[in-house]
Amino acid sequence: MKFKSQKIAYYFFALSMLLLILQIVYGFIMGFAHMGYDVLHDFIPFNVAVTTHKNLLVVWLLSGFMGAAYYIIPDEADTELYSVPLALIQFVSFAIVGVVAVIGFHMHWWEGRKFLEIPRPLDWLVALNVILFLANILLTQIKGKKSSTTAWVLTMGLVFIALLYLPGMIYFENISVDSFLRWWVVHLWVEGVWELVMGGILSYLLIKLTGVDREVIEKWLYVIVGLTFLSGILGTGHHYYYTGGPNYWLMIGGIFSALEPVAFLGMTIFAVQMYRKGNKNHPNKLALFWTLSTAIVSFLGAGVLGLAHTLPAVNLYTHGTLVTAMHGHLAFWGAYASLVLAIISYSMPLMTGRKLFDTRNGNLAFWLSNIGMLCMTAAFGVAGVGQVYLERIVGLDFMVVAQELHVHFFVLILSATVFTVGILLYIIDFMKHGLPSEEALGTEESFEAVAG
Ligand code: HEM
Ligand code: HEM
Ligand SMILES: [Fe+2]
Repeated sequence: MKFKSQKIAYYFFALSMLLLILQIVYGFIMGFAHMGYDVLHDFIPFNVAVTTHKNLLVVWLLSGFMGAAYYIIPDEADTELYSVPLALIQFVSFAIVGVVAVIGFHMHWWEGRKFLEIPRPLDWLVALNVILFLANILLTQIKGKKSSTTAWVLTMGLVFIALLYLPGMIYFENISVDSFLRWWVVHLWVEGVWELVMGGILSYLLIKLTGVDREVIEKWLYVIVGLTFLSGILGTGHHYYYTGGPNYWLMIGGIFSALEPVAFLGMTIFAVQMYRKGNKNHPNKLALFWTLSTAIVSFLGAGVLGLAHTLPAVNLYTHGTLVTAMHGHLAFWGAYASLVLAIISYSMPLMTGRKLFDTRNGNLAFWLSNIGMLCMTAAFGVAGVGQVYLERIVGLDFMVVAQELHVHFFVLILSATVFTVGILLYIIDFMKHGLPSEEALGTEESFEAVAG
């Protein structure tokens, strides 16, 4: 850690970990409900659980992105953060909005747009909060002694995340129009501007961990940003096939979304190539594992499993089934959850001065969570294909099919248990690091010197 204000990242990371645990709890509630044990139905019915599960996911990832920005931007701009008190106020208000939203969902205080359920008054508070965050980041960049492509790609990703939140706040009577704009948020986030955040953070980590020249890494970053926008923007059309819009979306959505895996493949080749070119023996191997797994698993979850149901002729059958859940889990896990875990793994030893990288716990956490999530994906996939066949081809009723699928959720719960043990081990290591300390200033050099 170079600047003491980078420590603020810790609070965002800690919030992330707490919300991840809570998200998993709701995952289990739904997993058991799908197995026929909907025991909490009177208190937490399925619609409450699924809303809480998905929104907690979005909030813990955003908290992780904010922490990443507070850690990375001062380092890249070579200056202290513009204002630490402002960042603290922003942290506390962000956490309060999150908690109020979760409690509100249990009282059915929500808006009803999948993934963007938080009610309007809280939307405005989120907007205000994000303005505070962006102002702090932008002012740090402006006052900084240095300006890097990596930092600007990350910053612009975050600015666009905020701007793209706005279309989701406009209300339309017509459900087709409403849904049209909801996708500007949901799709253009994960298959557009979040990829900039991913590119920025991966590029920072690769510069630090591999020792490859910044110029080489940042040149790749341009290629990835180009590929992302080229395919991702019109790729939104893969959500407009059957929502009441014009027919031309079948063609546009089909062609451009089928190109999207190329951007994710670019990210994989980028990371693996830089790793192979690198000559720095960085001691934090775990951070490197998470960095590479982000690039590789995102290609599997988003690229390969996205492609699996993106053509109109396939999506006609798979739309809104567990096939979507199969893809949603591995894509979010590979691309964004692993990304947050990568930057945490990298920065925690540097913020606390504790060399807890490469522990047995840390390695087990990495493998168990990844293997667990791959098995969960398989369970959702098998259940999804069964559901498509029984419901969409044979024509059985939704609830009749749900009953037929109970057994697959037994496999899901087993896999999710392995995944959760991995996550718990990760969080134990996170806690063992303790709080960030100013004594850790300048640790980067000393850690690397140990590695030789
Ligand atoms: C122990 C862990 C978990 C379990 C048991 C679990 C289970 C579930 C279940 C049963 C659903 C509802 C599927 C449906 O009927 O529509 C769901 C939805 C979802 N979960 Fe999880 N989950 C877990 C962890 C995660 C994690 C770590 C992520 C992200 C990295 C995640 C992302 C999602 C998403 C995006 C959806 C919505 C899928 C859709 O749109 O169809 N879950 N989860
Ligand atoms: C990291 C990137 C990605 C993430 C996190 C992600 C996640 C998700 C989630 C959560 C959904 C359900 C959304 C909802 O119903 O509201 C979804 C839907 C979908 N995704 Fe992705 N996705 C990613 C990339 C991709 C890519 C690259 C493709 C195509 C190659 C793709 C194809 C699709 C399709 C076709 C649907 C609609 C499924 C349906 O009709 O139910 N996704 N994605
Ligand atoms: Fe999409």
